Amino acid sequence: MKKSLLLFIASILLIGLLSACGTGGEQKNGSGEQKKVLRMGTSADYAPFEYIDTTKGNEIIGFDVDLAKMIAKELGYDVQIVDMDFSGLIPALQSGKVDFVLAGMTPTKERKKNVDFSDVYYVARNMIVSKKGSGIKTVEDLKGKTVGVQTGSIQEGEANKIAKKVDMKIESRNRIPELIQEIQAGRFDAAIIEDTVAKGYLDSSNGKLEGHTIPTDKEKSGYAIAFPKGSKLRDEFNKVLQEKIKNGEVDKLIKKWFDQ
Ligand code: ARG
Repeated sequence: MKKSLLLFIASILLIGLLSACGTGGEQKNGSGEQKKVLRMGTSADYAPFEYIDTTKGNEIIGFDVDLAKMIAKELGYDVQIVDMDFSGLIPALQSGKVDFVLAGMTPTKERKKNVDFSDVYYVARNMIVSKKGSGIKTVEDLKGKTVGVQTGSIQEGEANKIAKKVDMKIESRNRIPELIQEIQAGRFDAAIIEDTVAKGYLDSSNGKLEGHTIPTDKEKSGYAIAFPKGSKLRDEFNKVLQEKIKNGEVDKLIKKWFDQ
């Protein structure tokens, strides 16, 4: 008798627990209405797109964060940011841990097999970053060098492609600041990083670093928002994204984060 009662209580608790951590995340606000929360996966190592400015606090900020909030607001959602290594983002979409990803992610053919992408909202180019005076300006100059890239990024793929023609050593790291630290410590000769992000490091290096853009495939330069395959959110986001591009709000964000 007692045992079955316990079992009954345990199962009620379990059901409560399961519904509390269900998908999509709905939170009740004060008046008891449902406010839907979307979980955004990102890798907050990518200023000015997503990063933490420790001089200002420990919140994740940046262009991608503003863009996500702007679109989500229009659709009636709140955004909750989930930070992880870049290489974990697609698996997180596939396992339903996050509802979308905004992380300066490029919609490659390979990735499209596993996730759906929005339209492109930004275009970047690859840059070789090295210590000032390294003499490394072109892909050919990487011969015999140790070159850093972010794990799981298209720059990692690009480095592998270059290495087929130019004999060099590739080193992968999970986070962009690690690449810069390895250059500064003299362990890497160079790193391949996208220009807008690299610029921030060049500017704050007091002239100790230099960067040179390298030819970048057109289909390997855009940024888009990623969704789980078949997610209805993709079309909803795209619609608002296009509106905001047309009415200049995306441009305003670009000015806010890039023209400083
Ligand atoms: N655009 C590149 C890619 O899609 C690099 C993106 C890295 N993003 C980041 N938040 N660290 O592979």
